[in-house]
Amino acid sequence: MRRVSEMPPLSSQRHLFDIPDDVAFLNCAYMSPLPRASVMAGERGLRRKLHPWNITPADFFIASESVRGLFAQLINAKSDDIAFAPAVSYGMAQAVANISLARTQTIVTLAEQFPSNVYPWMELAERTGAQFVTVMRPGDDDWTAALLASIDRSTGVVAVPHCHWTDGALIDLEAVGTTCRRVGAVLCVDGTQSVGALLPFDVKRIDPAVVCLWGVQAMAADGLTTVRSSYGPKETMNRLEAEVKAKGMTVFARVDHAAGATEVGLSLRPTELLIFGNAKGGTPLMQSAQTIGIDLPLKALVWQDAAGDTWLSYNDPSWLAKRHGLGHEVEAAVSGMTATLAAVAKAATASQ
Ligand SMILES: Cc1ncc(COP(=O)(O)O)c(C=O)c1O
Repeated sequence: MRRVSEMPPLSSQRHLFDIPDDVAFLNCAYMSPLPRASVMAGERGLRRKLHPWNITPADFFIASESVRGLFAQLINAKSDDIAFAPAVSYGMAQAVANISLARTQTIVTLAEQFPSNVYPWMELAERTGAQFVTVMRPGDDDWTAALLASIDRSTGVVAVPHCHWTDGALIDLEAVGTTCRRVGAVLCVDGTQSVGALLPFDVKRIDPAVVCLWGVQAMAADGLTTVRSSYGPKETMNRLEAEVKAKGMTVFARVDHAAGATEVGLSLRPTELLIFGNAKGGTPLMQSAQTIGIDLPLKALVWQDAAGDTWLSYNDPSWLAKRHGLGHEVEAAVSGMTATLAAVAKAATASQ
């Protein structure tokens, strides 16, 4: 894993947020601005309840399964490793309920750590008589070295963040994980403030017992909508193609990436792209901003993950509209396109 000091500086991400040029907002640990994509996703969610008769029992699971799958990819885990909890404190309380300690053992945390990963452990210390250890802020700001120095054979739990919310310091969790394994301690990580936003976070390399995070930072949508399919990859793609044609759109190409991989002696799980659309739908958007032509015709990708599940992903038209700064005059056309894509995706993926 690369350390922060080895990473190239992050370029300006202002375009992802609604922050005017004359505003410099620096207090993200206290109250971060939501990315535009998250606000759009929230609005889409709220708008669904305008017409609840369109929400089917399957819809209760499709979005959450898609989020579990995407989040699993982000941290190199499996969908079934991921559970939803109402808050970090609730998730950690569940971890606490499953851990027993002896009076002779210690629970190690950092000074000024976010309370959601502190109070549940204080309660465990009180319940079991285990000793609660707080690593004080080191003079040289090297939290990792100070933490490693506090872990020994008596350590039962190390409950720490990946990124300290008060100063942005990064803890080297691979080193901490290695030490925890050596002494037999359980590593419980608060991933809020970093997972999905900073460095790669690989649970296979860190090997924590539990990682909890408050979702908004990590779930900042990247403009991709992904739904799980009840069918295999081939059948999903066939259904998608038939549905697109039934809606009067033209299929321009069907690109089988997996077949392409085989031709050059490489292997790739089923991954197939459909390129489709119609001039009636796309032209008004290009009249508003020609650059959206690079993202048209529309595309949908059918792919199979490592667990054998099939997914269908497509670019969210409202995200494309924002990307190219389309005017308000095409809002209705963009909404229509979103509704069509959602309907086509549902027909291709949902069982009858
Ligand atoms: C480091 C950190 N952990 C956890 C949380 C959220 O905790 P909870 O979901 O328990 O309210 C926050 C919220 O900003 C946070 O900054």
